[in-house]
Amino acid sequence: MSKFAELHYEGKVYQLPVVEGTEKELALDISKLRDESGFITLDIGYKNTGATKSAVTFLDGEQGILRYRGYPIEQLAEHASFLEVAYLLIYGELPTQAQLATFEREITIHTLVHEDIRKIYDGFPASAHPMAVLASLTCALSTFYPESRTTEGTNLNIIRLLAKMPTLAAWSYKNEMGHPLNYPNNALDYCSNFLHMMFAYPTETYTADPVVVDALNKLLILHADHEQNCSASTVRMVGSSQVGLFASVAAGINALWGPLHGGANQEVIEMLERIKADGGNVKKYVDMAKDKNSNFRLMGFGHRVYKNFDPRARIIKAACDNVLNKLGINDPTLEIAKELEEHALKDDYFVSRKLYPNVDFYSGIIYRAIGIPTEMFTVMFALGRLPGWIAQWKEMTANKEPIGRPRQIYIGAPERNYVPVSERK
Ligand code: CMC
Repeated sequence: MSKFAELHYEGKVYQLPVVEGTEKELALDISKLRDESGFITLDIGYKNTGATKSAVTFLDGEQGILRYRGYPIEQLAEHASFLEVAYLLIYGELPTQAQLATFEREITIHTLVHEDIRKIYDGFPASAHPMAVLASLTCALSTFYPESRTTEGTNLNIIRLLAKMPTLAAWSYKNEMGHPLNYPNNALDYCSNFLHMMFAYPTETYTADPVVVDALNKLLILHADHEQNCSASTVRMVGSSQVGLFASVAAGINALWGPLHGGANQEVIEMLERIKADGGNVKKYVDMAKDKNSNFRLMGFGHRVYKNFDPRARIIKAACDNVLNKLGINDPTLEIAKELEEHALKDDYFVSRKLYPNVDFYSGIIYRAIGIPTEMFTVMFALGRLPGWIAQWKEMTANKEPIGRPRQIYIGAPERNYVPVSERK
């Protein structure tokens, strides 16, 4: 039986249909509210607005639950491969052995990019941030591989994007370093191939350490989707104008770059380094983050939806200890990070605002341990998030969602008459 909530205003009653999700989450459907009452709803930053109904990822921020297509993140991070998870997110079910083998094979044979794309790298300055290069070249893919709206064409572009993104990402780093670009090695799995393109030198043979491959696989899985976050919403919003997959994902990459979103992982390491260089005075930085007159925030702390703990951060913290131990690395920033966490979690400012370490707090320490340079951290996040963006775009397209077009409350000047420039004072 349909349920309704009622809005009473100036003697009139408006009925708002109640929508219930799989996990009993509740929403009020306000889509007809303006037609019936003249009201829009105001929610700056979409803090309490459901923009879609989605079957991709379930997240309960109060309980610290994250599931891709129903599967707990803890199980996927422990047992699955990144491509298995990518298949799950994009196609809705875990692949059979045969499906996975075909998927992996298709991705492997599309890892090369058109040689003319290689030439574009020469046009970027060596100082170019790899995120700017990655976003530009992801969009540029649509000039080489036309966007498509057929199922077959879309599937081919999905494969192309998953296959070529590690190549574009590794080349953006090599370009920055002024090194020769490494071509993909199709004998390698997804993660090993990326590491090969990043770290192989023409004069040496490179074999990725299995500890590093495992860590990368886990990190990519943990970043693979996060329901309607800023970049996924951007991908859906841009895609809702019916622009293609490459252009939509390029927009998502740009959204991810910001320090309040995926850019936080780079900022965390820079913050930890700053604290270390400043004598390791953790309290000073905790106090600074609490001071409303300073612009400083504890990077890697707080989350729009997690108000208890971020389950990804728990897994990454444990993985961090493990990877550093196995690789025999003693990174003093890990100790500073732990001290900072301990300090903040005892502080009423952070406790009362429910600010906990998020996915970015420890991920940078692992990235650094496995040799990824700091400016590439957000690129790593983008590589991981790619299947999520694709799944969100595909779902939005399949559901034929209308173009995204929020409303506003206008607070500018009332109507006034134009004054010619010669008469203006
Ligand atoms: N350090 C200090 N104070 C903070 C922090 C922080 N990291 N995060 C939030 N606050 C305070 C904020 O000042 C506000 O205080 P008050 O109520 O006194 O005004 C309160 O906590 C609520 O913060 P908000 O900015 O209204 O919360 P939000 O939901 O809009 O922002 C956030 C969420 C992630 C942008 C924010 O917590 C933040 O800036 N964190 C640091 C950046 C970061 O780590 N981002 C990565 C997020 S996880 C990766 C991803 O999924 O993108």
